[in-house]
Amino acid sequence: MATGRGQCLVKTRQRETMDAALVLKGISKWFYQPRLNRSTPVLATIDLTVRAREFISIVGPSGCDKTTLLHIVAGLLQPSGGQVLLNGKPVAGPGRDRAVVFQNAALLPWRTLVRNISYGLECLKVEHREALSRAESWLDFVGLNGFGLHYPHELSGGMQQRANLARELAVDPEVLLMDEPFASLDAQTREVMQGELLSIWERTRKTVVFVTHQISEAIYLADRVVVLSSRPARVQQVIEVDLPRPRNDSIRESTWFRECEGLIRDLLRNGTGLSGVVSGRTATCGSDRQVAPPMGNRRPPSTSDGA
Ligand SMILES: Nc1ncnc2c1ncn2[C@@H]1O[C@H](COP(=O)(O)OP(=O)(O)O)[C@@H](O)[C@H]1O
Ligand SMILES: [Mg+2]
Repeated sequence: MATGRGQCLVKTRQRETMDAALVLKGISKWFYQPRLNRSTPVLATIDLTVRAREFISIVGPSGCDKTTLLHIVAGLLQPSGGQVLLNGKPVAGPGRDRAVVFQNAALLPWRTLVRNISYGLECLKVEHREALSRAESWLDFVGLNGFGLHYPHELSGGMQQRANLARELAVDPEVLLMDEPFASLDAQTREVMQGELLSIWERTRKTVVFVTHQISEAIYLADRVVVLSSRPARVQQVIEVDLPRPRNDSIRESTWFRECEGLIRDLLRNGTGLSGVVSGRTATCGSDRQVAPPMGNRRPPSTSDGA
């Protein structure tokens, strides 16, 4: 049971501060099932405040509608009840202020990397040459300098996800919504990508909502971990991650980290009635794939677009 150790290692209070960026107010969702001719509740009342520049991880049992929740925040789905507010303004649909990074990098296979990244800028009416130049800078920023003329299939899964991230960052969103972006990577690449995501986040300080079902990933990345229950999902617990930044791999071995993992595992188990351990899926990249150069400490390119 989580009792005891949970009390000593976590603070569950949810700080409501003046710089709240994203507010989820009583979000609920029902899906109509035509075959049963009835609606099923999938999200119970979800209340959550995300501070500006905060990194939030959301974990929950598989199928508890984490993706549904993220789609509601992105404006891709309407909630059945409640409201999402970004800087006090209700979210009515998709917007440039929120970018979604999906599990599948979904790069356009017929475009080179640089042209994949410039595409979003061109949609914003940035002049072609300027868009290409900015795209090159963002590739450099995510450690893909020199890969601009490669096609997506010539890159490893990790590199594709970096390019994906560069594409979303290039249009300068305020909030990054990430849905298990590293789920299809092998375990080693996944840990490297977690470190690189933190490095990118520390240099851009976007507000991030990161959905995962890998507990260690959730803790390693986040300022707070939101633990959802099984369907209909509700917030079981919000755990403040009191680990120093910048974080390095040794943090995963700390007693605090391990206890926190245990606590979340207990919460997920109790919230689902399952006895298994929640873990990430893995897949290996092809041996002909290229290895990306290290990220370094590059500054984010300018995002002023004049669009
Ligand atoms: N538009 C929809 N209509 C009916 N059911 C849906 C719809 N979208 C998602 N679902 C169902 O909701 C469940 C949870 O979806 P999802 O948000 O992907 O869960 P998670 O991301 O937590 O694994 C799935 O069983 C899925 O089939
Ligand atoms: Mg999902």
